[in-house]
Amino acid sequence: MRAARSVFVLTGAGVSAESGVPTFRGGGGAPLWKGMPFDVISSAGMAARDLPAVWEWFDYRRDLLQSLSPNPAHATLARWQDKFETFTLATQNVDGLHNAAGSREVFELHGNIWRARCLSCEERVDVRELESRERPPLCRLCGDSMRPDVVLFGELLPPGVYEQAASRAMGCDLCIVAGTSALVYPAADLPVLAKRAGAFLVEVNPERTPLSEFCDEALERKAGEVLPLLDF
Ligand code: APR
Repeated sequence: MRAARSVFVLTGAGVSAESGVPTFRGGGGAPLWKGMPFDVISSAGMAARDLPAVWEWFDYRRDLLQSLSPNPAHATLARWQDKFETFTLATQNVDGLHNAAGSREVFELHGNIWRARCLSCEERVDVRELESRERPPLCRLCGDSMRPDVVLFGELLPPGVYEQAASRAMGCDLCIVAGTSALVYPAADLPVLAKRAGAFLVEVNPERTPLSEFCDEALERKAGEVLPLLDF
């Protein structure tokens, strides 16, 4: 850590687990919504078929999140943003807890649950600023329906964010992957790019993942416990 000049961190749902946010896979217990697995209710197909149902699912998740706070994993990562020559935080999480902990520049690979996006003009708004709870909300600029500004299953990532994260990953000398099952692409490629470009690769996850054997160090502990121990 002390020798690192450029650090790249990729996080997944596991870093929010100790804040009380259920993970999708692994020990966290996959949340089902009205009997539908999350990859059905959070899918492009469902958004096209029944946008109000997708809004209901995301409203439910936001209501859960309202009462949750960042945990020591988020706080440690926020402290690290000023401790290295270059520090990059890329997250698959949409819960906004990294920002809430003070992280300023977060590469939100899968979007952000607190934002809505217009289906036509791409106008974005913070859902908490919406006057009415009508669903789907209507765009204040063009009047079309708005959708959650998150990447749904079957959709591409927002243009540019992956490419920027990939170039940071390839330029780092220390890559830390915390709280992800490393099953969803292209996010799961980022630590591989870092390693191939010469970075020292550390995984923080109580469970083994497809990435574990590829890592220089696999710290099989909770992120909220381990990351503060790596602090300096
Ligand atoms: N600290 C670190 N890791 C943890 C902790 C913890 N306290 N608790 C659980 N984990 C690990 C689990 O072992 C699991 O490997 O976090 C991982 C969570 O995996 P997923 O639930 O699959 O979450 P993630 O990898 O972020 O999923 C990627 O899939 O559902 C889509 O778009 C969604 O962004 C999500 C993507």
